[in-house]
This record gives sequence, C-alpha cells and structure tokens, in this order.
Amino acid sequence: MLNIDLKGKRAFIAGIGDDQGYGWAIAKALAEAGAELLIGTWTPLMKIFEMSLQKGKFDESRRLSDGSLMEFAKIYSLDAAFDTKEDVPEEIRENKRYKDANGYTVKEVVDAIEKDFGSIDIFVHSLANGPEVHKPLLETSRKGYLAAVSTSSYSFISLLAHLGPIMNPGASTISLTFMASERAFPGYGGGMSSSKAALESDTRTLAWEAGRKWGIRVNTISAGPLRSRAAKAIGFIDTLIRYSAANAPLADNLKAMDIGYTAAFLLSPLASGITGTTLYVDKGLHVMGVAIDSQSLAT
Ligand SMILES: NC(=O)c1ccc[n+]([C@@H]2O[C@H](COP(=O)([O-])OP(=O)(O)OC[C@H]3O[C@@H](n4cnc5c(N)ncnc54)[C@H](O)[C@@H]3O)[C@@H](O)[C@H]2O)c1
Repeated sequence: MLNIDLKGKRAFIAGIGDDQGYGWAIAKALAEAGAELLIGTWTPLMKIFEMSLQKGKFDESRRLSDGSLMEFAKIYSLDAAFDTKEDVPEEIRENKRYKDANGYTVKEVVDAIEKDFGSIDIFVHSLANGPEVHKPLLETSRKGYLAAVSTSSYSFISLLAHLGPIMNPGASTISLTFMASERAFPGYGGGMSSSKAALESDTRTLAWEAGRKWGIRVNTISAGPLRSRAAKAIGFIDTLIRYSAANAPLADNLKAMDIGYTAAFLLSPLASGITGTTLYVDKGLHVMGVAIDSQSLAT
C-alpha cells in the first residue's frame, strides 16, 4: 500500500490565524501523515488565535481521522513583512497589537525555531496581504503595491533564505498562489495579482537556487477559490466560488482539504522529482477558455 508517511518530519507553516484557511487544511493533512507541526501566526492575531485554541473553539476542526486532536508543538508570533528587529518601524512597535509581542520578525522566528527544535523538514508559506486590494491596479499607490509584494511574495524569499540552513536534506517547501497571476481578475487589485506573478516566477528561480544550495524543493499550488478570512476581506469570493462551480470541468465546490492533501503529497518524498512547479488545484478551472454560463454564448 502506498501511503504518505511524514512520521519523524517537522513542518513550519506560516500563515494560520483560524481554522478556515488553506494553512489550517495543510496543517491537518500533514498531521494526518504524522508530521510534527510548528506554526507562525500573524502577530496582531496571536492573542485571539491562542485564546480560541485554548477555549476549544477549534476542537471540532482539530479532530483527526484517528479521533485525536491536531496539536501544535509551538506557535510563533510572526510578521513576515519584517526581516529583522531593526526593520520594524516605531509606529508598529508601539501599536497596541504589537507592544507586548517579541521576536516576530523573520530572522527572530527562524532563530527561535533553531534554538527550540534544531531543524525542520517542511516549510509552508500560506500568507498574503495587500492593503489596497480593493483598488484597481491603475489606482494603486506605489506604497500599496510594494506592501502587497513585500508581504505576499518577498516574505517567501526571506523565510526560505533564513530557513534554508536549518532544513534537513530532502526538505521541501510550498507556497499558495492564485490564477490572477496570469489572467485578469477584476477585483483582485492593489498589486495582489502582481505579487502572485512574482511568487510563481520566484518559485522557478528559487527551485534552482535552493535545489543546488541545499537540495531543497520549491513548489507552489495555484488554488481555486475558498471562503477563508483573507478571501472574505477581498469581497467577491462568493461570486468566484459560484463562477467556478458553473464553469470549471469539475462542478463540485473545492474544499480546503483538496489543497491540504495535494500539499501533503508535494511535501512528501513521493514528490521527490518535482520542483519549480505551479500545480493547479482548482477543479480544472484554469483550462477553460470560455465561461460556459456566459449569456453571450446563448443562441
Ligand atoms: N482563499 C482563496 O480563495 C485563495 C485562492 C488562491 C490562493 N490563496 C492563497 O492562500 C494563502 C492563504 O490564504 P487563505 O485564503 O487561506 O486565507 P487565511 O486568512 O487563512 O490566510 C492568510 C494568512 O496570512 C496572514 N498574514 C497576513 N499578513 C501577514 C504578515 N505580514 N505576516 C504573517 N502572516 C500574515 C493572515 O493573518 C492569515 O492568517 C494566501 O497566500 C492566499 O493568497 C487563497
């Protein structure tokens, strides 16, 4: 029998703030495969996430197929927009949601992981943010555009550069991308489409660099629409889910675990020959050239 076996492997998943998103589903799939989980939660969400976890709010979605609850060996407060302590501007440092937090920059988190656990085998990047996502690209400011790319794309480069030296031989990484990188999606603005294009391009270049430097694999999953917290904030997620159901080759709704299971495969030794790839997990929507529910197709 062919199984995904990640027993003895340690994963760091950056970008879990509740039980609704892709990061959570990937964590669950990795836990089902036996991996130990460390997670990075955005600093402003850290308190509410830890409190919800302690109060049992996520218990139902933590349940694994053997009846046990998914456990996190450690939760790190992370703001992937900053590489070092010195990069954090005064206004953020003094912000009430950051004031009591410590060690949340990329370098500090990776140093802490090394001190706490020594090494990891898997790195998952499941985070994105674009402060001007509601604005069309033509109306996006330079600051908003660069913030989208900084948090949503450069953060992958920075985390990989810092984690590379503590990743074990055969280690593997993934990020999450979206088809707006290559097709126009009105409503996915503020430079978010650009940030996904960068992420996919960087996947190829980093596959080469990290492959030769550390023997690490780098892939990205182009996921279909999911009603996550981040997606709800963008505003048109329900329309996209309806559009996908109406027009994708597979009409049933995409589930977060569809991405979770694909991630577990890509991050396992079963995918040891795959690197530098953008893998679509979107019920096939990306292959369509026409919207079959378009009124203009009606005869
Ligand atoms: N939901 C979708 O339809 C969809 C489709 C394709 C790709 N994706 C991608 O999947 C990934 C996960 O998103 P999701 O939709 O599951 O939503 P999500 O809300 O579960 O995950 C996004 C996470 O990013 C975190 N984050 C934001 N800024 C951060 C920062 N500076 N430092 C650290 N963490 C930060 C948020 O707190 C949140 O936990 C993202 O890259 C997203 O673009 C989502």
